[in-house]
Order: sequence, then C-alpha cells, then structure tokens
Amino acid sequence: MLDLGALSVDIQNSHILRGVTLKVGQGELVCLIGRNGAGKTTTLRSIMGYRRPNAGTIAFLGRSLTDLPTHAIVRLGIGYAPEESEVYGDLTVAENIELPTWTCPEGRPAAERIALAYQIFPKLRQYMKRGGTQLSGGERKMVSIARALALDPKLLLLDEPFEGLSPAIIPTISDGIASIRKLGQSVLMAESNVHHIPDDADRLYVMERGEIIFAGTPGEAKRDPAVMRVISGAA
Ligand SMILES: Nc1ncnc2c1ncn2[C@@H]1O[C@H](COP(=O)(O)OP(=O)(O)O)[C@@H](O)[C@H]1O
Ligand SMILES: [Mg+2]
Repeated sequence: MLDLGALSVDIQNSHILRGVTLKVGQGELVCLIGRNGAGKTTTLRSIMGYRRPNAGTIAFLGRSLTDLPTHAIVRLGIGYAPEESEVYGDLTVAENIELPTWTCPEGRPAAERIALAYQIFPKLRQYMKRGGTQLSGGERKMVSIARALALDPKLLLLDEPFEGLSPAIIPTISDGIASIRKLGQSVLMAESNVHHIPDDADRLYVMERGEIIFAGTPGEAKRDPAVMRVISGAA
C-alpha cells in the first residue's frame, strides 16, 4: 500500500536520504531501524509531505504523494504520531483525540473513531478532562497515537513510540501497538532501540546514513552479524 522508490532528500545541501526503497503492505507492521541521525524521521516526514524529495517516488495505494500537501495526504488515510508527540496543551486529552474528527469529518462516524482510540489505550479514559500540558511523556505518546487513530487511517506512521519513556509505561505502549495490529491496521514504525522491535514485525529495514543497508524479517536480521552490529548499538 505504501511504496518508496529510490527516495532521496537533501537538507541544506546535505544528502540526508539516499535512494531509500521500502514497502508496507496491507495489514503489515514494518519497522525502520537505525541510530539517531540515520534519517528515520526525515523518511516519515517526507511521506507526510513536510519534506519534498529531490529524487525518487512515494506512492500510497497507487497514488503519488510527492505533489500533495500534508492535509491531502492525511485525508488519503495516513496517520502520523511524531517523535515529539505534539499534544496541544490548551486542549484537554478528550479534545486532542476528537480533533481529527473535526478536521477530517469524512469516513466512519466520529463516535466510532473516538471509541477506537480509547479501545487501544483504555487508560486514557482516566485523563480525558486533563489539559494537554498535565501529562507525562508516556501519556503524551498515548494521546498522540490515539489521536492519529481517531483519523481512522489506513496506515499509521509511528516515530519512536518508546523514546524517552520510563520502563513502567513501555508495556502499555507495546500492548497498544499489538492491539492496533490485531485491528488489521498497517503500521510503519521508526525505532532506534533493537529491544523495542515487535517480534511479529513483518519486515525490518535497517537505515544507516540515509541508506537502507538491510531488508528482511527480524529473524534474518538477528542472524546477520553486520546488521546486529548496527542495530544493537543503535540505542
Ligand atoms: N531541519 C534540519 N536541518 C538540518 N539538518 C537536519 C534537519 N532535520 C534533520 N537533519 C539531519 O538529517 C539527518 C537525519 O535526521 P533524522 O531524520 O532526524 O534522523 P533519525 O530520525 O534517524 O534520528 C541528521 O544528520 C540530522 O542532523
Ligand atoms: Mg528521529
């Protein structure tokens, strides 16, 4: 459903992405793994239309995204939970999660989309009235992922969903991702810590200095010493 073909992105005359080719199929969970600075966030931001490629293709459900503004890409069905969560502080948790049902009213009824978000992270019901500034890092991650789900996206992009979280909250997030998976939702997840890769990921892409240096299953990655050297030092 998502196809990146030889994608290259320059930022301030530096070649940040160099010929990135990757694929996410219907219902797949795909991980993009690499050290900090490898180019993972730039890849996701390029898919969302925040960065324009110098070369290469980005196609979603057979349609090119490279000429579309971000809001149109969202409407095609791509939800994005960025690395920094970006929860709106002047809105409550409930309002943050409802937001996509106001901005993108098409599709399934708002109540169903909101129910889906709370189904994935039931703990959020306790914080519904809390302001967006009164949340821990883990709660912000949950709100950010739940908000992306309330779009009822066909594909969800998660940028380092475990980054900077206390160990106590990590199982809540990984259970949430497992539940998203069970819904048949396609997910592309960027990750810098090999320990956070779900065992049931369909495919892993390892990125180094803007290039994909490996593509395969988590099992194949673990049997490849060169890949393990890169990804186990990735955290
Ligand atoms: N706005 C920017 N201006 C200059 N350099 C940037 C910018 N965004 C990213 N980069 C550079 O691009 C490279 C890849 O960054 P990024 O995509 O954030 O990597 P990752 O998410 O894998 O940590 C880094 O070297 C980073 O310094
Ligand atoms: Mg990043």
